[in-house]
Parts: sequence; C-alpha cells; structure tokens
Amino acid sequence: MSNNSNALNRLKAIAQQQANKSSHLYGDSIVKRESLQSNDSKLITQSLNKLIDWINNNSNTKSALKDLDSRGIYPSMFQLFNHYDLEIVRLVVRAIKIVALKDAATNEILRSLDGVHLLEQLLEQYYDAEILNDAATAIECLRRCAPYSVRGVGFGKYSEQTGTFQWYLEFYQLHFDDVGVAWRVWDGGIGLAKWVLDNPSIFEGKDVLELGSGVGVCGIAAGLISKNVLVTDYTDKIIQALQDNVKRNMRLTSQLKNVTVQALDWVNDDVPSPFGYEVIIGSEVIYDVKLVEALANVIYLSLTPNGTFYTTCATVREGIPEFIKAMQDRDFNVEQTNFPSHYIPDTKFDVYFFKCTKKNTLLKLQQQKE
Ligand SMILES: C[S@@+](CC[C@H](N)C(=O)[O-])C[C@H]1O[C@@H](n2cnc3c(N)ncnc32)[C@H](O)[C@@H]1O
Repeated sequence: MSNNSNALNRLKAIAQQQANKSSHLYGDSIVKRESLQSNDSKLITQSLNKLIDWINNNSNTKSALKDLDSRGIYPSMFQLFNHYDLEIVRLVVRAIKIVALKDAATNEILRSLDGVHLLEQLLEQYYDAEILNDAATAIECLRRCAPYSVRGVGFGKYSEQTGTFQWYLEFYQLHFDDVGVAWRVWDGGIGLAKWVLDNPSIFEGKDVLELGSGVGVCGIAAGLISKNVLVTDYTDKIIQALQDNVKRNMRLTSQLKNVTVQALDWVNDDVPSPFGYEVIIGSEVIYDVKLVEALANVIYLSLTPNGTFYTTCATVREGIPEFIKAMQDRDFNVEQTNFPSHYIPDTKFDVYFFKCTKKNTLLKLQQQKE
C-alpha cells in the first residue's frame, strides 16, 4: 500500500513538474523556441497556431518577424519538417508561407537557412494539397521570381539585434516575353554580387564595367564598394528597368552614388573608345553558344592589359567549353573553379566561377624583342 502511494506521489510530482513546465510555455504570450523543440505534439500544435495568429494580427509585421528571428524560431520551424505528425507539418508550412509573404528581408534569412531546398523536399514527400500549395507559394516568395515582382536581396553581415543586413537592395523584375533571359535576378547574379562585396580589395577605387547586367543585381551591388560602375545591357526595355533599379536603390542606400547605365550590344555595337577597364564583371552571361565569340570580343576590347573578367555560370548552361576556348584564343589566362556554395546555398544547380585575366601581350612582345 505504502509502495503504491509512493509511486502515485512520484507520478503526481512528475505530472506537476510537466504541467508547470507546460504552463510556463503555454502561458507565455509569445511562442518560445523551446516549445517548438519539445516532444509534445499538443504543445507544438498549440504553439504553431499561436504563432500564426500572432503574425497575422501583429500590426508591426517587420518588427514581429525580427522578433521571431532573434528568438531562433525559424530554424526550429524548419526542424519540425521531420516531424511524423501531418498536422504539424501542415501548420509549419502554413506559418512559413505567411512569414515569407510578409517581408522580403525575412526571406533572405529563410533562404540562408536552406528554406528553398527544405520546402522542395516536401513537394516530393507529401501528397497533401494544403502542404503542396503552401510549400509552392512559400518557395515562390523565397525566390521572388514572379514577373513584375520586386525582389529584395540582403547583402553583407546580418545583425540579429537589429534584424537587418548590412546592405539591402531591391530589383524590379520584368517578364520573359518582353526581355528574354534578362527578366529576373539570377542566382548566379546574387552569388557574384556577394562574392564582390566579400572581395573589396579588387573593387575599391576602381572603375568597373558590367556586361549583360539584366535587372542589375551584381553591378548595382558592386556600386556599393567600387569607385564607379557602368552597368550595360542591350534592349530599350532592359535599359529602362536598369535605370529604374539604379534610382530605386540610390533612394534605399546613400552609399550607392556612382552607378551609370549604358546600352552595349555585344553583337552589334562597337566598343566605345576609350573603354579601358581593369575589372569587368558579368554574371550568368555564358548561356548561348552563338553569343560567346561576341562576348569574348567585347571583354577583350574593353579590358586593359592584365585586366580581369569575373563571372559565375550555372554548370548546366550552354557554351561553357566554347567560351573557355574563345578566351584562350584571345590569349587570356582562364581559371575555372567551383563557386563556393555558401554564396548561393539554395540554388538548384552547381555554379562555376571564372577568373579570366588578359595577358599583357604587348609587354610580352616587348620583352621578346629585348
Ligand atoms: C542570364 S541573363 C543574366 C542577367 C544578370 N547578369 C543576372 O545575373 O541576373 C544574361 C544577360 O545577358 C544579356 N545579353 C544577351 N545578349 C546580349 C547582347 N548581345 N548584348 C548585351 N547583353 C546581352 C541579356 O539581356 C541578359 O541580361
């Protein structure tokens, strides 16, 4: 009898302990990371519902989303994808979709947590209509690659304290039917832009030329640290969008002053003279075998001796071996490496990085003579 009452008391104490713990977690007005990390399905479900209501009803959405970030809620939400409970996965995806719809800056955080891949995995794992719809919408928001959408991209260090990136730029995107492949911000463009900002010694104090700028992600970002950047592309509609995006970002950040726009068609224009750049960038510009000769020519004619062209290129693109040959034919030293994946953690394809340095042929000829 006494043994039984002891066991009963012990069980009661444990239950009380758990109740205290739960009431501490349930009773709080905000959801804590610990509650999402618990093994208690009921607590997780309640917390997720509370979180969804809280985001939906919070009038100051941006600060609410920052607050979730500072409490480590986003990684905990993604961890719940592995949960066995269908209802929990449904709620997590709904919460992520709601967060992703609200704020482009938050999307950068979700992307850096590999949100796109994690959501894509759900598309393969589940047949539940709600999960599929919400996951697809969230992926679209994270990529922000809908026509005529504004794609926000955070660059540099992210401060958990202020919930902001060192730099935040926005790019108005176009429609494929109007401007072909120039229509959107490409992952290789974001990646190269981040690499540029990570390598200021190459760009600071320099005049930089960008070829095939599209909507301008890499060139405009390079404008944050370079002396001057000339961004170029070749149709009126793209040039207009580039001008709009330069203006938009000059309003967003006072650091951006010296970015100018000019039309330059690799195939039909002569390279303006004088046009001697030490540094040229151009992300995702190798994609069409028919264009690589014209592209290589423009690079050759626009670079000073010993100048360098930097580009990123998804490994699946066409024209890569032809581009390498075209550059080597022009006596360039071509270094091809795998682009570090941390610059574009959620891209679908691996990306190459090319550093093409123009050999100082004149100097070589002079040295041979001497
Ligand atoms: C795949 S997009 C990359 C855009 C941008 N650099 C990015 O990473 O987001 C290729 C770019 O090359 C440009 N392009 C194609 N042919 C061109 C030409 N003949 N002259 C100038 N630019 C050209 C396109 O307009 C487009 O903007």
